[in-house]
Amino acid sequence: MSRTTQTGTVTEVPTQTIRFTLNDEAVFCTVDIRKSLLEVLRESFGLMGTKEGCGVGECGACSVIIDGRTIDSCLYLATWADGKTVTTIEGVTDPDGTLSDIQEEYVEAGAVQCGFCIPGMIISSKQLLDDIPNPTRAEIRRGLSGNMCRCTGYQKIVDAVENTAARRNRKDS
Ligand code: FES
Ligand code: FES
Repeated sequence: MSRTTQTGTVTEVPTQTIRFTLNDEAVFCTVDIRKSLLEVLRESFGLMGTKEGCGVGECGACSVIIDGRTIDSCLYLATWADGKTVTTIEGVTDPDGTLSDIQEEYVEAGAVQCGFCIPGMIISSKQLLDDIPNPTRAEIRRGLSGNMCRCTGYQKIVDAVENTAARRNRKDS
């Protein structure tokens, strides 16, 4: 890949081919090594569910799960995903479009307003419940502390996560 500067010189854009697991599918992609994972997910894979809010690691709108940890994909270079397992909001919903239990409980609790923060919230909720199946409200708040919401006041979001845990317990008993 190359581009022409204003002075007419041709500069090489450094690229690297990365291979990783994306929402249960083995994928590869040649990326500009300066691009964030957020940019590559949206521009190269067309996964528009992961949002860019602040772009500087403050809001959590860009959250994805990598190898069992929630990260801000705006601060994570795409090349770092090489060899890893990445889950985006598209991987939380079933391939046929059926909502996950977490998403259903968000809807049920009225925890979604403008929705801009919600993909990141759902991602963090998923990892939180994977790590702590029966979290206290304090643990839910801590687990979602990297995600900002300008609309809901958080109460209903915490309710939704709590209700998901309760629903899973009913299923197990
Ligand atoms: S867009 Fe990544 S933390 Fe805000
Ligand atoms: S629902 Fe609007 S920012 Fe959270």
